[in-house]
Amino acid sequence: MNGNLILKNAAELVTCSGFTAKYGSEMQNLHTIKNGAVVVKNGIIKAVGTTEKILNDIDESKYEVIDASGKAVLPGFVDSHTHFIFGGYRAEEFSWRLRGDSYMDIMKRGGGIINTVKGTREASKEELIKVGRKRLDSMLAFGVTTVEGKSGYGLELDTEIKQLEVMRELDNTHVIDIVRTFLGAHATPTEFRGREDEYLEYLVKTVIPVVIEDDLAEFCDIFCERNVFSVEQSRKFLSKVKELGMKIKIHADEIVQLGGAELAAELGAVSADHLLQASDKGISEMAKSHVVATLLPCTAFSLREGFARGREMIDNGCAVALATDFNPGSCFTESIPLVFALACLQMRLSIEEAIIALTINGAAALGRADSIGSIDVGKKGDMVVLEFPSYKYIPYHVAINTVKKVIKDGIIVVDKK
Ligand code: NIG
Ligand code: FE
Repeated sequence: MNGNLILKNAAELVTCSGFTAKYGSEMQNLHTIKNGAVVVKNGIIKAVGTTEKILNDIDESKYEVIDASGKAVLPGFVDSHTHFIFGGYRAEEFSWRLRGDSYMDIMKRGGGIINTVKGTREASKEELIKVGRKRLDSMLAFGVTTVEGKSGYGLELDTEIKQLEVMRELDNTHVIDIVRTFLGAHATPTEFRGREDEYLEYLVKTVIPVVIEDDLAEFCDIFCERNVFSVEQSRKFLSKVKELGMKIKIHADEIVQLGGAELAAELGAVSADHLLQASDKGISEMAKSHVVATLLPCTAFSLREGFARGREMIDNGCAVALATDFNPGSCFTESIPLVFALACLQMRLSIEEAIIALTINGAAALGRADSIGSIDVGKKGDMVVLEFPSYKYIPYHVAINTVKKVIKDGIIVVDKK
């Protein structure tokens, strides 16, 4: 069901207007309208402008009406990188990290991703749907209206498919839109230990054809990292996947500078993600090749690593997106306010750039900048109303949720008193 809605008198209507990613200095312009109004019909935005102009000749009785006096209104947030479907938790490992063990040390000991693989293989579809729905509810309360979700905790046909089917079921039954990514190349399962090339071959020959046949994922991703998959293995794998028709993403240069950003540019990936260690060359090549640089500051924070060079990426012309990386290991948080806090206070993004990174550039990282990520005529009626009159309150109210209402497809789905 899609809604008919009028939102009027917004103190600040932050449209983030545009239908493609915003690069470099373009990220500074939010296209804000004072005393703004939006008309949504059947879930799609039909008019945007000042309240005076837009509501002149409209019969308001046919619409649900929100008076947003004294409030800022923004596009719904797009969380373009998460791993939100998994079984079991890793609280114990988190406590080991606090005492000094590194993420990679724990992984080498058979913990980390492989630990969650066990829990996810054991979990039933119903259990994953139940816990996934709860996580989506929490994201929605933070103003997220579209989320990307990756598989990668099965590492064998049935469980990878189970994760993707769970996300498809949730996409059909939860108001948040879900974009699915196949991440079978997240780690090498125990059964294939020492035989990484054979495992990648198995994914290409046995798993990906099923994913494509059943239309289970739009994107394919790989964890390109020392002791996981090399640049050479990633190049070979992603090239084959591209030939099969999937769009690609890369977990790139997270812990060690391997050249993942350069590889993303070479292969025309839609996004390269993490990038804590991206080189100068990698940054300029991403900008040139129009690869969205997706930064995940909550992960750097949670792993106690240095932050990605977001400021320099924007200054060098990159389109930067921000996302949570919600997952059971390196970053167990769905907090959009924490993403804003770290992006602005630690990575030195301006508030305007951070908002663009979580809206239109997040949409671009998912290949959906034509339908979501901004308040423009023809796009989905996905919006958030803040408790405050200006977007500037988002990082100012440090790590606190300032979202009062969430509108999805023109319907009010969160309404806090
Ligand atoms: O994006 N870096 C690799 N993958 C995830 C972590 C997954 C996990 O630890 O379970 C990430 O941080
Ligand atoms: Fe990730």
